[in-house]
Amino acid sequence: MLRCSVRVFDTPQLAAAAAGDAFIDGVSEFSMRLAGVAAGHTMKPVYDHLVSAEARSSGLFSRTAFVQLDEVVSPVWGDANFSEEIDRHLLSRLSGGYRTFLVINGQTNQPDVEANRHRAAILENGGLGVQLLGIGVNGHVGFNEPGCEPDSRCRVTELAMSTLERNGYTPGTRAVTLGITEIASAQRIIIVATGVAKSLAVKAMIEGPKSGACPASLLRGHPDLTLFLDRAAAKDLS
Ligand code: GLP
Repeated sequence: MLRCSVRVFDTPQLAAAAAGDAFIDGVSEFSMRLAGVAAGHTMKPVYDHLVSAEARSSGLFSRTAFVQLDEVVSPVWGDANFSEEIDRHLLSRLSGGYRTFLVINGQTNQPDVEANRHRAAILENGGLGVQLLGIGVNGHVGFNEPGCEPDSRCRVTELAMSTLERNGYTPGTRAVTLGITEIASAQRIIIVATGVAKSLAVKAMIEGPKSGACPASLLRGHPDLTLFLDRAAAKDLS
């Protein structure tokens, strides 16, 4: 079985802090490449940690080019926009600023074109260095939902029912997401999962078959992938 590095912490805060430190190391090590960032509840304490670290070391991210993992396709601009969420929780709080943030425009009426543009922008800007990721309760990474292909690329996707329900999206909501191909192309992948709701997805990712049924499992075998878990998310691991 292809294993990956797993670190388990007593609390979500400790897992988030360790993941944040690993992200900072990755930003430094792969400074000529993009730093991939995700939205979601799990990321908030990670971003709080990054903001605190940057406050002690102003300019920490001043040369960093960030890039967005995924975005909901919606004609309405609001709190559901992931780029706005990442800006609110992380980028706008960086006292020393950052170089740029490559975003996905979820308001476009041509999401396929937007997905291709985002994919090309990543390649034109040196590719992914470190990628920070959450995991869905169904094992999704980004919005690569169960049933996705291992060679999937940045594209428009339908969302699984559990994703629609958990996030309160109306049925039929779609998203633009980096594919498994782009995520796996990152030099370093950092996955954070906290809370008991993620425990079965974590188990499937690490101990189940490597299959599109659990999209996160498709990243297993990446040469530099670490999972940062709290005890609750790790509780089903054997
Ligand atoms: C969401 C998004 C990801 C996020 C993941 C975990 O649905 N597709 O950007 O990282 O699933 O989200 P959360 O941390 O809110 O559980």
